[in-house]
Amino acid sequence: MDERDIELFNDSIERCSASPEFLRRFYTLFLASSDTVAKKFEHTDLRKQASLLKASLYIMITASGESDRVVHLERLAKRHSRAELDIKPELYDLWLDRLVQAVGEFDPMFDAEIEAAWRRMLRPGIDFMKSRY
Ligand code: HEM
Repeated sequence: MDERDIELFNDSIERCSASPEFLRRFYTLFLASSDTVAKKFEHTDLRKQASLLKASLYIMITASGESDRVVHLERLAKRHSRAELDIKPELYDLWLDRLVQAVGEFDPMFDAEIEAAWRRMLRPGIDFMKSRY
């Protein structure tokens, strides 16, 4: 995880989060992209879900670190695994594509470098979640 990516990612999250609609827009895009996803969130309060997601984005980027926060990632992975929410590994790629799409709509400085930073920052966490399915 390189310093430049961390900076690009953090600054971009902050610009996006200046709009309260950012994560709600992500959920709108994500639910519209697959019937399986829409069904999974049938009984979910998406407002609440959007605020949980922001915190978990920071959890995701701890996947390659040594920090205690890896414990939170373990918990999140277990929650999404076959035994609990049963989120199939391929749905994570859709998740990332829709998230990057929402970032593109909300970050006024969005460009190919920022997109690559988001993808590189979240990839290890996503691979970890998939590996715990
Ligand atoms: C790596 C990407 C993801 C992150 C960071 C993430 C984050 C979260 C968080 C923080 C929660 C709340 C956990 C709790 O209440 O204990 C949650 C719940 C949930 N997630 Fe994810 N998630 C991810 C990927 C996905 C994917 C790909 C799906 C596919 C449909 C999904 C479906 C759900 C569902 C159905 C819930 C439960 C909602 C409810 O309580 O009604 N998540 N997720």
